[in-house]
Amino acid sequence: PKVAVILGGLSAEREVSLSTGRGCAAALVEAGCDVVEVDAGRDLPRVLAEISPDVVFNALHGRWGEDGCVQGLLEWMGLPYTHSGVLASALALDKQKTKDVYRAARLPVVESVLVPKAEAAGRHVLEPPYVIKPNNEGSSVGVYIVPEGANRPPELSAEMPETVMVEAFAPGRELTTTVLGDRSLTVTDILTDGWYDYDAKYVEGGSRHVVPAEVPAEIFDACMDYALRAHEALGCRGISRTDFRWDEARSLDGLVLLETNTQPGMTPTSLTPEQAEACGISFPELCKWLVEDASC
Ligand code: DAL
Ligand code: MG
Repeated sequence: PKVAVILGGLSAEREVSLSTGRGCAAALVEAGCDVVEVDAGRDLPRVLAEISPDVVFNALHGRWGEDGCVQGLLEWMGLPYTHSGVLASALALDKQKTKDVYRAARLPVVESVLVPKAEAAGRHVLEPPYVIKPNNEGSSVGVYIVPEGANRPPELSAEMPETVMVEAFAPGRELTTTVLGDRSLTVTDILTDGWYDYDAKYVEGGSRHVVPAEVPAEIFDACMDYALRAHEALGCRGISRTDFRWDEARSLDGLVLLETNTQPGMTPTSLTPEQAEACGISFPELCKWLVEDASC
């Protein structure tokens, strides 16, 4: 099939998407597809109309590419596309709304509120430690950790949105699980020196991944179960990756869901390709599977 890989885009995760998209494009060529790379700018509808692909492979991350916008455009154009549709994408990129869906599905989360940026910068909205983050960006762009005992909130950069999420700090280990189709693949334990920030995510050697995670069976199974339930509750399609925090000292009560990524990263250091690999699914096979699963 002729596959247009849409990558880059307009979000704060543009660079990550370029890396994801180039990797996927190369893998799809290896899998025998006829591949066109399209940097998704404002002229995307015109470019796609000209190319007229059989399938659009969505390699975008963040706003406009992961929040239902581009999915709506592709529905409108009648082009089959990979990953989640409009509603699941819109819900999952909104961290607060995602939690509403999790709660309704009886999945554990930590407390959070949305407040005007000026309020978050002016007073402690929650008792420290807590986190301030944009409600709808990924890759830890614009995340502030306010430590226990902090006198005042941090200065927030001008780029932060007008409304921000303030979330109770969930201590513990970073675990993550990818869902492919109707099954959870495995659990990865992400080990970093500090916390899993942008550099730890995308700089080679920035973090160490233990896959399958060496955690008690009860925790492993809970991640597998929760990730699948999150995928289904949000109505995701194809693939998703749900991120957890686990406070070992509190056993199963210490496991919470942070978010579900409907466009999980597929860069050379990313978790999802590594999890697929651990389950015997090569990167080209994974990308090809997504193309075959595409619809609109
Ligand atoms: N937001 C990045 C791409 C991820 O979740 O992998
Ligand atoms: Mg994310």
